Amino acid sequence: MGQVVGTSLSNGIAVVRIDQPPVNTMDRHVRAGLKQAFLALRDNPKVKAIVLACAGRMFIAGADIKEFDTGMAEPGFHEVLRLIEDSPVPVVAAVHGTALGAGTEVALACHYRVAADGAGFGLPELSLGIIPGAGGTQRLPRLIPFEAAVDMMLSGRPLAAAQAKELGLVDKVVTGDVVEGAVSYANELIAAGRGPRKTREQKPVAAENTAAVLAAKRAEVAKTMRNRQSPLKLLNALQAAAEKSFDAGLEVEKAVSASLEQATEARALRHLFFAEREVGKIPGISPDVKPRLVESIGIVGAGTMGGGIAMAFANAGLQVTIIDAKQEAIERARATITKNYERSVKRGRFTQAQMDGRIKSMNFALDFDGLKQSDLTIEAVFENMDLKKEIFRKLDKVAKQGAILATNTSTLDIDAIAAVTGRPQDVIGLHFFSPANVMRLLEIVRAKKTADDVLVTALALARKARKVGVVAKVCYGFIGNRIMDPYGREAEHCVLEGATPKEVDSALEDFGMAMGILAVYDMAGVDVGHLTRVALGNAFNRDPTFYRPSAMLNERGWLGQKTGRGYYHYEDGKRVVAPEVVAMLHEEGKRLGVPQRKPGADEIRERCLYAMINEGARVLEDGIAMRASDIDVVYTAGYGFPRYRGGPMFYADTVGLKKIYDRILDFQRTLDSHYWRPAALLEKLAKSKSTFAQWQAEQGR
Ligand SMILES: NC(=O)c1ccc[n+]([C@@H]2O[C@H](COP(=O)([O-])OP(=O)(O)OC[C@H]3O[C@@H](n4cnc5c(N)ncnc54)[C@H](O)[C@@H]3O)[C@@H](O)[C@H]2O)c1
Repeated sequence: MGQVVGTSLSNGIAVVRIDQPPVNTMDRHVRAGLKQAFLALRDNPKVKAIVLACAGRMFIAGADIKEFDTGMAEPGFHEVLRLIEDSPVPVVAAVHGTALGAGTEVALACHYRVAADGAGFGLPELSLGIIPGAGGTQRLPRLIPFEAAVDMMLSGRPLAAAQAKELGLVDKVVTGDVVEGAVSYANELIAAGRGPRKTREQKPVAAENTAAVLAAKRAEVAKTMRNRQSPLKLLNALQAAAEKSFDAGLEVEKAVSASLEQATEARALRHLFFAEREVGKIPGISPDVKPRLVESIGIVGAGTMGGGIAMAFANAGLQVTIIDAKQEAIERARATITKNYERSVKRGRFTQAQMDGRIKSMNFALDFDGLKQSDLTIEAVFENMDLKKEIFRKLDKVAKQGAILATNTSTLDIDAIAAVTGRPQDVIGLHFFSPANVMRLLEIVRAKKTADDVLVTALALARKARKVGVVAKVCYGFIGNRIMDPYGREAEHCVLEGATPKEVDSALEDFGMAMGILAVYDMAGVDVGHLTRVALGNAFNRDPTFYRPSAMLNERGWLGQKTGRGYYHYEDGKRVVAPEVVAMLHEEGKRLGVPQRKPGADEIRERCLYAMINEGARVLEDGIAMRASDIDVVYTAGYGFPRYRGGPMFYADTVGLKKIYDRILDFQRTLDSHYWRPAALLEKLAKSKSTFAQWQAEQGR
């Protein structure tokens, strides 16, 4: 480990510079370096002021998250920050890029803050189930108004430099080199005879009304951050900042942090943090395999998905050519994209000039010849095998050599699609989620003959489009939709047994799912899943209760939101209970001889989630997913599974695999002996008191 903190001294001003690529994480080396630097400067009479800055593209990006699991090494944050704050000469933070988490807390412990005009300050700790634990909850409200401090920590959104200046977090915003700006600010301080200004000695700002602010925020997070403990505990620490001395408040912050760091919520969120970084590692692919160059994207099919995919890539700065068989489809896509972009500009997400640039990077055409130059083309036409094969034959003819040919199919056999081309090694599945310009998940489906460099290209492209790309192998539904199938089957079966759609959805939403599955079907179109199940046959033909509610809604054309009715009614866009649908489905349950047991919320949750987990185990056995944590990423990034529960496989480990296995055996005895069978992997792990995490580690993944 080289020198991560360096000091230089010129004309009485010391510049302490952290240089820990890539993002100056405040790990133990940085803390040790800062301690050493500030101890040395304290005893140096030549030093009149200190500027604390970072090399590279940003200020400190946060703590070293691994240390929460390995234990915090010495020196700790409090010791180092106290040393900075106790400096006998003024310390000026010079912030460029973004200061995040511990980075912002370091800046708060400095006496003054100078920011580059593009800089930002964020405290996103809640996204990891913890709170700022290096004095942030106590120092921030002493610099900016109490309510603004609460909002900054609850939202996790960074403050831009100008906003930070307005609120009092930043003393000066500079253009040009931030270190030069901070040095000249330090000179002004010296000239004016201004010494250290310790944040901890300031009074909380605008803290008269804290009781009312806290009551309102507590009520708000109980609704918007349901099932989570870190937001409420954060508010306790902030209350202490308003009511107690700095030192007493800091003790509250420490106690709260200690109670959160090893709690399931924080472990779950850390698990996902690392899981999302693991997804790109593919065992067996040599690091020498380099991605192919992709600068231009072709898309076939200007429908819902084609339009969203086009936006996702135009947003990432790529050239996009969109082909459709119908002029109307092209016009519709163009109008939808324009409307969507206009809305974003109105909301300030990007500028009009950026919007114009993105629109300009899109070409629309009716003729496949437009795809000749595309480096990668994604097919997004109707979910129909014959049609997809026809498209791939055409693509094989027009695409240049080395171009990648991808399909956005949700369910079809990609090996069969690849086989109609003369270049199956260039064919891959890129399964986007709707709306494709918003959803973070991309399932990358590796077909039997997909070349390694094509896979690596897809992973790089996902990163470029700011998506999380998870690799799956070919099977019905890949990872996500395959696991969804038994989950949805249970939800529908519960309705046939006498639960209402609302009871089923509420049970799942109370667990934390973004939306109950029956409401999801209404939103996506009840016909979508139904048609693939019919096309596929299998269980659908054997069991008359299998997804019978969806089939009945289809028979009546009640396809969900788009037809104004489905599992629910839609009145002025609002979802309301549909009594006649409830009655119809209950009658059907009785007609089919389904025992009317009216399952309660706990049973609904257990059945839906354990069915999902059991299928997850099968997906691992079959090698469709490489890692249990990949399934967790798929479900949290693409299926509304609550992040604070870590994803279905992590959640299963927290429940205990033996408990889940035993429950599945109960369901086998009491519900359906044919349908409920524990996966072999689940059985093995349950009997050996193991976990999915342990299994994954043993696989070396
Ligand atoms: N809608 C979703 O939520 C979703 C999610 C993931 C994947 N998918 C998959 O994406 C694909 C597209 O779905 P969608 O919802 O966007 O469908 P869509 O019906 O909205 O759009 C399909 C488009 O393809 C065009 N098309 C049909 N035949 C064509 C041809 N021969 N040449 C050129 N264009 C042709 C149609 O005119 C239409 O504009 C399907 O395979 C679907 O399974 C959909």
